[in-house]
Amino acid sequence: MVNIAILGFGTVGSGVAEVLTRNGGLIDRRVDDLVRLKYILVRREFPGSPYQERFVRDFSVIENDPEVDVVVETMGGIDAALEYTTRALKAGKSVVTANKELVAAHGYELLRLAKEHGRGYLFEASVGGGIPILRPLTSCLAANELSQVTGILNGTTNYILTRMIQAGLTFGQALEEAQAKGYAERDPSADVDGHDACRKICILAALAFGRHVYPDQVETQGIRAVTLEDAGYAASQGYQIKLLGRAIRQPEGRVMAFVAPHLVPGGNPLSGVEDVFNAIAITGDAIGDAMFYGRGAGKLPTASAVVADIMDIAKDLRRDHRNSWEEGAPDLVVSPRELASPWYVRAGAREGELQAALGQLQPLSRAGAPAGETAAITAPMTQPQLEERLAGLEVRSRFRVLA
Ligand code: NAP
Ligand code: HSE
Repeated sequence: MVNIAILGFGTVGSGVAEVLTRNGGLIDRRVDDLVRLKYILVRREFPGSPYQERFVRDFSVIENDPEVDVVVETMGGIDAALEYTTRALKAGKSVVTANKELVAAHGYELLRLAKEHGRGYLFEASVGGGIPILRPLTSCLAANELSQVTGILNGTTNYILTRMIQAGLTFGQALEEAQAKGYAERDPSADVDGHDACRKICILAALAFGRHVYPDQVETQGIRAVTLEDAGYAASQGYQIKLLGRAIRQPEGRVMAFVAPHLVPGGNPLSGVEDVFNAIAITGDAIGDAMFYGRGAGKLPTASAVVADIMDIAKDLRRDHRNSWEEGAPDLVVSPRELASPWYVRAGAREGELQAALGQLQPLSRAGAPAGETAAITAPMTQPQLEERLAGLEVRSRFRVLA
């Protein structure tokens, strides 16, 4: 018998309980043991819930019960999540989580603690919701020297951009829909301002390149600056605007990591990723390019990944699960400023003026564009080069183009 305790009964926690219950028979068969949901830690009433007899309000009940093998942390945030995860690992329990904020901030120390106690700390659901990505990265792609990870890593912002552009919703309406569907973080500015995608690229970079990348080392921009005008210009040449998290291997073991809106060309499979879907493209020296695609948020897709981690641990409670990386360093992460790329620029200027400043351009158009406004794509250049050439012009938007 493998006993499970879930911490937090919100979108993800209740989804985990539902999948464990609904698919209990097949889970037991596949694990070749009985996987039993013993406790759910809550801090308020859930009238009518079928799980009443499993609810507890004191974490020490779970911590001190030697029958509990796996603690599933789906509370979110840092403080209580860090405390309970630490106490659970020290009490000899494995921990599974969907909490990317905690893993991005404290993954290195928690993985070390898990190893010291011979237990697992697994977090497949922390990146890409239901998409299998972390285990493929550390297992199936283990033979590769990886050079790049590029992903649409936030379901809420991808959903908002899709609904604004395709259905004409306002930003606020699209965000409300994403919240109602259970996609958004408790504080949705974590989604909209790119912090959630930042945490996920930190985790991907750590697994891909072997050292902890901390969120405050990663330049991060969200989607607030993206307008329907920009989306219209981009579409005229087949580009889509996507919020991307990128991590690129650098010389001497360093890493370039950043989050920003990009124009993605129509020929790139990331351009077709819409709605709540996420996709992560990986480049390795043996595999070449590979892409992982699926639902990046939501109750049951996320629970699918959490329960798979539970099953992985349940099959072998003491196995080393290969999630590990070294401590980070203050100079580990390189700024993207020196990364040369084409840029999308929209400016209050005539095409000739923009060309005089930026050189050769690919002009973009849109119906209803105001007189005296030009949007175009530049030749590849670094950010300082772009800024120098744009000095003195009235720049309305500028985003990188994924080359
Ligand atoms: P949520 O709906 O807000 O659920 C969190 C639950 O945890 C709430 O019910 C909350 O209780 C409870 N909780 C918080 N602190 C607690 C404590 N100290 N003791 C007991 N219960 C506590 O959030 P969620 O969407 O399920 O997200 C949970 C985690 O999964 C987050 O780390 C999130 O980033 C991650 N995640 C979410 C998704 C998604 O699609 N939603 C996908 C992947 C990962 P109250 O109701 O009383 O506040
Ligand atoms: N708020 C997150 C998102 C949940 O929208 O992607 C999944 O991590």
